[in-house]
Amino acid sequence: LISIISAVVIGYFLGALPFGFLVARSKGINIFEHGSKNPGATNVKRVLGEKFGASGKRAGNLVFALDALKGAVAAGWPYAVFLCQMLKYRLRGGVVAGVNEPFETILWLWAAIAGLVGALLGHSFSCFTRFKGGKGIATGAGGFLVLMPLSIALAASLWVGVFKTSRYVSLASILAALSLPVTSFVTARLWGFPPVQIVWLSAAIGMFVTYRHRANIVRLLNGTENRFARKS
Ligand code: G3P
Repeated sequence: LISIISAVVIGYFLGALPFGFLVARSKGINIFEHGSKNPGATNVKRVLGEKFGASGKRAGNLVFALDALKGAVAAGWPYAVFLCQMLKYRLRGGVVAGVNEPFETILWLWAAIAGLVGALLGHSFSCFTRFKGGKGIATGAGGFLVLMPLSIALAASLWVGVFKTSRYVSLASILAALSLPVTSFVTARLWGFPPVQIVWLSAAIGMFVTYRHRANIVRLLNGTENRFARKS
């Protein structure tokens, strides 16, 4: 149980590191007061890109990378322990991921889940920014990149497709997030991987990030959502 508790605590403090806020502040901007007021990569890119051009856009990309890294590390270290232990039992044959390993091994899977949940809570309700924070797309993507890379690759392609046709980041993000439980369910059925607990996690997180986008959804329905200009 120590593994689960330490994963959630480490995850929370990693997730709480407010990279979007810090990167924008380094350019003299309080991101909570500009654009969509969200301290995520999209809004940093939008606001700093408008003000500083290419260097501002790069700052947005940097925020995405750093926020993704938080999720990847938070979920990745306990998941690495789980995978090593599982491999040991798999080599003996006949083991289904996350179902019939020893209890101690499955606890590490739950620790990876706890790590990513902690990171998302830290990111969304950061103790360093008065419990305000982002919507969890980059941090979730980083975590799931470790937990189910194939589903993330498919979600990323969907994201690119939706963004290129609509120019709405929020719509692309919501649909990509909701695709994760669907694609991971299929791969879990086909190959026994990822473990079924991860499929449930992706469904829960898909709903969480959709809820965090509720203001975007209202704007999308009203036709007032921020749209990135089409590249000419
Ligand atoms: O990940 C956040 C993105 O989907 C929307 O960001 O700033 O347009 O609310 P924003």
